[in-house]
Amino acid sequence: MSLLELDDVSITYRLADGELPAVRGVSLALDAGQALGVVGESGSGKSTLAMALLRLLPKDARVTGSVRLDGEDVLAMKWGRLRAVRWAQASIVFQGAQHGLNPVRRIGEQIAEPLLVHKLADPDRARRRVAELLDQVGLPAWRAKSYPHELSGGQRQRVMIAMALACEPRLIVADEPTTALDVMVQAQVLTLIRELVAAEDIALLMISHDLSVLADLCDRLVVMYAGRVVESAPAGEGFTHPYSKALAAAFPTIGDPASRLAPQGLGGDPPDPLQLPTGCVFHPRCPVALDTCSTVEIDLRPAGDRRTAACVLAGEA
Ligand SMILES: Nc1ncnc2c1ncn2[C@@H]1O[C@H](COP(=O)(O)OP(=O)(O)OP(=O)(O)O)[C@@H](O)[C@H]1O
Ligand SMILES: [Mg+2]
Repeated sequence: MSLLELDDVSITYRLADGELPAVRGVSLALDAGQALGVVGESGSGKSTLAMALLRLLPKDARVTGSVRLDGEDVLAMKWGRLRAVRWAQASIVFQGAQHGLNPVRRIGEQIAEPLLVHKLADPDRARRRVAELLDQVGLPAWRAKSYPHELSGGQRQRVMIAMALACEPRLIVADEPTTALDVMVQAQVLTLIRELVAAEDIALLMISHDLSVLADLCDRLVVMYAGRVVESAPAGEGFTHPYSKALAAAFPTIGDPASRLAPQGLGGDPPDPLQLPTGCVFHPRCPVALDTCSTVEIDLRPAGDRRTAACVLAGEA
């Protein structure tokens, strides 16, 4: 049994003029100490999926399928249990999360809050734990006394990571945790997350639209397109699905002369979720589509060593 197991998860938003399928039939598994990267264009359903893991979606979202954390069905949990699981067993760092810090409270108090709320520490122990956490994320202990406005964006994002680590969760979900930061700070924060995950045997689910970031950091990559997983592959071993390949080509490897010759980007736009194409949803943009691709939708299928891809051409090479 894996720490996190998703089985056939679909998520629909109810809109005034219909139902928007944001996530469609996603299954995946993640073990402790593993880092899984989820990549895909804007609107492919990454954040919707992340929020479903801890039932943080708005009320107009309907989730089907199953989400299991340590064998426990998250979608069936009572509120009390869910509150206990959030932060303590699994925590989320959001894109631009540093703006979520309370501006009028010292950061030490804010990091200590989940520990106190979950009764995992008395105030004295919580203070010591805050100093320890600040040290882990590379901030001096005296920063506990600072207010959020006294910190830089990168430092605030480190505080958010300290908060996510406070209760020693088994799973951390990081949804574009560094997109708001400049490139140098971004690299520092990502390296930090990766080191902490390895040291503490935490499972990490990291979301980004930047494949180069994920490829460095993760053991495995899952590529999403229009709400579906189109490929799941070990990081750094290339891709099989034409969409994943196009995505990879859009992120040339710095210093690799061959990558300069690769085709840049992908023509066209992602499909309107309210009017998904028939057959394989990628076929209108696919450079190698066959006639059948406009009518037949292909499920994920084995496509090599520890790899699956949802393409009619996969597994034939
Ligand atoms: N609260 C909501 N109500 C209705 N539709 C929503 C809501 N949130 C997201 N959507 C729609 O669901 C789809 C998936 O959105 P989501 O935010 O999960 O994508 P994403 O992959 O995280 O994109 P990005 O890279 O831009 O963060 C999009 O079509 C979006 O418009
Ligand atoms: Mg998102």
